[in-house]
Amino acid sequence: MEATARIRPQRGAELELRVESLAYGGAGVARLDGYVVFVTGAFPGDRVRARVTRGRRAYAEARAEELLEPGPDRVPPVADHPGAPWQELRYERQLEAKQGQVEDALRRIGRLEGFALEPIVPAEQTWRYRNKLEYSFGRDDSGQLVCGFHAPGRFDVIEPLDDCRLASEPGNAARDRVLAWCRDEGLPAYDRREHTGLLRNLVVREGRRTGQLHVRLITSPGDLRADALAAEAGADGVWWTRTESMGETTAGGETELVAGAAHLEEELAGLRLRISPEAFFQTNTEMAERLYGLAGEYADLRGFERVFDLYCGIGTVGLTLAPRAAALFGLEIVESAVADAIENARRNEVDNASFYAGDVRLALRELVARAGRPEVLVVDPPRAGLSKKVVRRIVEAAPRRIVYVSCNPTTLAPNAAQLAEAGWALRRVRPVDMFPQTPHIECVALLERAGS
Ligand SMILES: C[S@@+](CC[C@H](N)C(=O)[O-])C[C@H]1O[C@@H](n2cnc3c(N)ncnc32)[C@H](O)[C@@H]1O
Repeated sequence: MEATARIRPQRGAELELRVESLAYGGAGVARLDGYVVFVTGAFPGDRVRARVTRGRRAYAEARAEELLEPGPDRVPPVADHPGAPWQELRYERQLEAKQGQVEDALRRIGRLEGFALEPIVPAEQTWRYRNKLEYSFGRDDSGQLVCGFHAPGRFDVIEPLDDCRLASEPGNAARDRVLAWCRDEGLPAYDRREHTGLLRNLVVREGRRTGQLHVRLITSPGDLRADALAAEAGADGVWWTRTESMGETTAGGETELVAGAAHLEEELAGLRLRISPEAFFQTNTEMAERLYGLAGEYADLRGFERVFDLYCGIGTVGLTLAPRAAALFGLEIVESAVADAIENARRNEVDNASFYAGDVRLALRELVARAGRPEVLVVDPPRAGLSKKVVRRIVEAAPRRIVYVSCNPTTLAPNAAQLAEAGWALRRVRPVDMFPQTPHIECVALLERAGS
């Protein structure tokens, strides 16, 4: 303890560090006599000069300022892109790090043993894989309107970009067309300090298989020539959201369709899907297909099963499973996503699927009462994972098999531990790399009731 107290560096201090490993979330881990320093912008083997941004009793956070000696897995950066913080780490090493972090979370946080950790599925495309990008408007030093991403750690500074290497070329071109039009119109960017101005964000969403593009402009309440925007945007659907929110969010507000189609069309796993602007859709279409394939493998359906798809979004996982099940019941909180799921079942001639709008926490019990207990239950919750109450409801529902699709191994681990405590054994886990060049991790886990 005394050694720790003596070492504890102050904010602003400069340290020379050798990075040993990568922490969950993406920072490098270095040690000073056992005292841990998390260093952003540094990779294993790097020797860096870093500046402390936060000094705590048990650990410090620092930002690498100079690379004194590169580690063995460094590769040259491809693009100046805040959304690709791991791009200087060799891709194979990114995969190893993700695989290791899933294992570490399950064993250390969940204290789970006896499961098969299967090898991570690498991404098919390591760049230009995102089907949705959310950009922000701002002004550069000369006052010119720009559209790009927040500078790291800055809520008020937007850095312009010419080519977002996570988006497709048509997606980039759509952003550029909207930006050019906004400049021509002389529209002001929203000022995040003063809460004045108009233009806040631009969402570009793409059907990778259909080639469709939708753009949604998010502004403060105010006016613009929406018809002219629609004519210039060159998109299949043009949306305008007006919001009074003080925060940086593209959710909420009043959204109207300015021109074109009300839904984006996409194809996935042989299904033709429609997607509403507010509905969730996995951002990596190609890898979503792999993810759902794995969920199907883990579900191991024989045809007699009643299957629940909780947090079902537009019905994607459930609709890929329904043909091999007796009946499929989906639950989702966003009403327009549920409407999409119902329509997606209809147009793909899946006639044994029902979808309901509701909060899983409150509606699961009623779904069991109406539909009966599920043999197989699929969950795909947001990053926060399942609350204790939802875990209790799942335990009450008593499925034989649980397929857990997780975008956060640090919440999967305690949830799997709670389910293990209640009698479900963690059997198999497989990470899928949906987000190359970033530390984000997706995985699928299979839990089975003891005796199954
Ligand atoms: C990670 S997404 C998964 C969606 C879908 N399974 C897919 O792969 O496209 C999580 C979904 O849970 C929904 N959701 C969030 N909180 C919820 C809740 N309390 N009850 C029901 N659905 C919820 C979100 O709207 C979102 O569609």
